Amino acid sequence: MERTFLAIKPDGVQRGLVGEIIRRFETKGFTLVGLKFQKVSRELAEQHYDVHRERPFFPGLVEFITSGPVVAMVWEGDGVIASARKIIGATNPLNSEPGTIRGDFGINVGRNLIHGSDAPETAQKEIALWFKDEELVTWQPHSTPWLH
Ligand code: TYD
Repeated sequence: MERTFLAIKPDGVQRGLVGEIIRRFETKGFTLVGLKFQKVSRELAEQHYDVHRERPFFPGLVEFITSGPVVAMVWEGDGVIASARKIIGATNPLNSEPGTIRGDFGINVGRNLIHGSDAPETAQKEIALWFKDEELVTWQPHSTPWLH
């Protein structure tokens, strides 16, 4: 089953949007398989954004991601990688459609609330970077009898 890595950034936590953001993936029907609340080390931030190392915004991005706690998550479901990117919206919140997380709550590209893996290879890499295998829970919500 397909999995993606999502992280609510320090601005999302600071603005009290954790519940609102998680709700959107829950109600869409995806399955939460990993969740932790943590401050991010400089080393982890630099590894996570390694692809942007040479970009002018890199130092500010690392500074921001390490500035406060984040909610790191793994979600599972058919097509979850591309679907989560749609739910999140375009990188610059001024270009994100209303109805998306960034479109509804953001203004600034440097404060765009949430990260989501952009492809299967990056999802796999990011999940391994942020989570140990034993921190991920394999379960099947639809076969849990007490829900019905
Ligand atoms: P990117 O991977 O291009 O976007 P996304 O988060 O939508 O996958 O960029 C990573 C983060 O870097 C982005 O969420 C915000 C930050 N960023 C800037 O601060 N300025 C920029 O011009 C860009 C392109 C990104």
